[in-house]
Amino acid sequence: MISYEYVDEIDSTNDELKRRASENKCHEYQVLSAGTQTGGRGRSGHTWASPAGSSVSTSMILFPESVNIERIFRITPIAAVAVAETVEKLYGLPVQIKWPNDILIGEKKVCGILNELITGDAGVAAHVVVGIGVNVHIREFPPEISDIATSLDIELEKANSPMITRCGKIVGSIWEHFVGHYEIFLQTGDLNEILEFYNERLINKGRTVKVFDPIEPFSGEALFMDETGALHVMTDEGEKIVDSGEVSVRGIGGYV
Ligand code: BTN
Repeated sequence: MISYEYVDEIDSTNDELKRRASENKCHEYQVLSAGTQTGGRGRSGHTWASPAGSSVSTSMILFPESVNIERIFRITPIAAVAVAETVEKLYGLPVQIKWPNDILIGEKKVCGILNELITGDAGVAAHVVVGIGVNVHIREFPPEISDIATSLDIELEKANSPMITRCGKIVGSIWEHFVGHYEIFLQTGDLNEILEFYNERLINKGRTVKVFDPIEPFSGEALFMDETGALHVMTDEGEKIVDSGEVSVRGIGGYV
């Protein structure tokens, strides 16, 4: 059962759940959300800003017993789908997904997801922390990201929508959708159940992407995500399959 806890301020909701797990003070589907984070973290070592009362910063802990640990990174797109469903159902805004798990509206990022796997030792079970940050009420972004970032309120205003965003409602909807898909994933071990929804929103599809593979970066046309969560890219040498993890993709000359 999902349990929710809210704190006004914390360094990072991901870090707090990991600390609690290391002391065996956490249970499956425990959610921690914060009004602001003083040390919010993004992918690839970036920081993640969570201005007080303006965004959703929420994490859930999972103790996946039945799934092979290498497969657990397949849950990344499940979180992206849960956010997309939430934004579309609650606010009617059309969402795009940038592989593997950035959520965009009108080609600008509205949400980021950071999944962390702790393999477990010394009596601590292996666990995954899924961390989600959504820009909700933010009206202005720092100049370095103002071209690529947006918030739900900005997009609702652009769409002349009278809808009012509420962080608590967003959090509840995201995790309910997430757990629904995650439980199917635990049975099947693959992403077939969400694949169509995901690929319909995949903004990279048909576009040229640069793949920042640490061994050999390359470019090609993004095709689709498969049931393992990998992105298929057509290059001059043929089709390549890109696993997530620390690999990221970018458009040529831009964010997408
Ligand atoms: C990204 O780089 O796009 C991922 C951003 C993830 C931010 C969320 S906010 C809640 C959780 N706690 C963190 O410190 N990071 C994640």
